[in-house]
Amino acid sequence: MMSHLIAPSILSSDFANLQAESEMLNNSEADWFHIDVMDGVFVPNLTFGMPVIKAIKKHSNKTFDVHLMIVEPDKFIKDFKAAGADILTVHYEACNHLHRTIQAIKAEGMKTGVALNPHTNINVLEDIITDLDLVLIMSVNPGFGGQSFIENTYKKVKALKEMIVRYGSTALIEIDGGVTSKNARQLIDAGADVLVAGSFVFNSENPINTIKELKNI
Ligand code: DX5
Ligand code: ZN
Repeated sequence: MMSHLIAPSILSSDFANLQAESEMLNNSEADWFHIDVMDGVFVPNLTFGMPVIKAIKKHSNKTFDVHLMIVEPDKFIKDFKAAGADILTVHYEACNHLHRTIQAIKAEGMKTGVALNPHTNINVLEDIITDLDLVLIMSVNPGFGGQSFIENTYKKVKALKEMIVRYGSTALIEIDGGVTSKNARQLIDAGADVLVAGSFVFNSENPINTIKELKNI
């Protein structure tokens, strides 16, 4: 069985030193770079967009896992591909025509993910689960790093894993928000494949060791 993947979220990194932060991640056991794009409309916060992703891409040798917390993501699918996204995840709650959006992401040659907010039931994905490469379960309300993990997530991950197996889908389950070395094991046991960690990694004294700790949990 594949071991779990670690995707540090650069949202909690030092934005004035993104080259150094990227090099640190290159030298760590991180599998992916998790990149949070926020528009101030879908979520009550703003981060960055394509130009910043493109700039970081030059200094990274890992998979770019781009998490779009924006309305109307269809407008920018080609631009995120051009900026360096390898996996593009959109929110279920932000898409009126999710099937079309997913097909458009695939057509650009990217892996496709759908994120669910804490209040959204996994059953809404039943009719598209075999089209997805990734399902991102938000374990906090999207918008900010450093929030507390919502305990209901375990139950949700188990139910999603069952659905994925039942449909023979190859989708990975990614958990985003409040992940630490305290809940990582239980999340993996529930069925998680990818753990995002922002503040737990970047606020720690030694991020490389913290990533190693999460990888070897
Ligand atoms: C929140 C973002 C997360 C965030 C996680 O909306 O999607 O990726 O960076 O940060 P932590 O790990 O600090 O909860
Ligand atoms: Zn995220």
